[in-house]
Amino acid sequence: METNQQKETQSYFDAFAKDWKQKAQGEKLHKVNVISQRNGYVLEVIRSRSENIKTLDVGCGTGELVHDIARMGIHAVGVDFANEMIKEADEVAKKENLSTAEFHTGSIFEFPIADESLDVISANGFIEYISHEQLNTFMANSYKQLRKNGSLVFGTRNRLFNIVSMNQYTLDEIDSNNLDRLTRESVKVATISSPSELLDVETVDLEPATRKHTNTGGIEVTTRFQFTPAQLVKMLHAHGYTVKELCPVHIHGVSPVFAADHKEAHFNISNLLTDITNKEKHNRYKVIPYASSFMVHAVK
Ligand SMILES: C[S@@+](CC[C@H](N)C(=O)[O-])C[C@H]1O[C@@H](n2cnc3c(N)ncnc32)[C@H](O)[C@@H]1O
Repeated sequence: METNQQKETQSYFDAFAKDWKQKAQGEKLHKVNVISQRNGYVLEVIRSRSENIKTLDVGCGTGELVHDIARMGIHAVGVDFANEMIKEADEVAKKENLSTAEFHTGSIFEFPIADESLDVISANGFIEYISHEQLNTFMANSYKQLRKNGSLVFGTRNRLFNIVSMNQYTLDEIDSNNLDRLTRESVKVATISSPSELLDVETVDLEPATRKHTNTGGIEVTTRFQFTPAQLVKMLHAHGYTVKELCPVHIHGVSPVFAADHKEAHFNISNLLTDITNKEKHNRYKVIPYASSFMVHAVK
């Protein structure tokens, strides 16, 4: 099942593990910390649940989320196929003596997990690196592995953001005649109060397997898929999940070209918008079209 996309992903993250750790720990000046925003949302979901005995983080990277969950005394397992990422993750767990944290090197598609054994499965920045067939397998396997009422929480790149990003991504959508449907979906997302309202939205097609993406965020992997909220809500619904919530990540008040010239201004505006929507959760949907990523919380 190993694709070229997955091979490239594994080599990239093996080579850039130390750099990733610095990013995750917010050591990059005026760089919006997407990793901590995504982790923060998973922790918000965990705190809102009545039972959390065991959690799994898929594509756990340098392990910050697993560490945070383990610090809450919850059994947290992290799996990643980039051994260098797992080494960084393990080092922290040993140093802090996090007895409920467990890390494994290997592909999630080969990692054995018993049915109905997990309360939460998280996967931040993972589904962009797998094929559509693997995404289907991931959703189906997770459904089996979760206990009833278990939560699947994951982050993804947002394809709706292409409308406002004013860059090559925008031009590509215009050239593929997708602007009309993407704009209509954005208008709908900005006015919903529940993700189930997206079930009857007409979506654009999934990106083709051959899609090559312009490098953003410095990640040198050729194919990093983007999804729209309605595409994922529909897929999850077809697998039997109920999508409970969506949450914006890395909200943009200015376009990426302006942000590149004014990093501090973008950083401050973006963090301000995130703070507002963390306090006013009902306003989260309104800014999803301006967020370059978003989180999905689906329940079995
Ligand atoms: C963008 S990083 C995200 C890391 C971490 N979740 C975070 O948010 O900081 C994606 C991670 O997924 C891992 N990954 C991709 N495909 C995988 C697979 N099939 N099995 C296990 N890990 C995988 C990569 O090695 C990489 O560490």
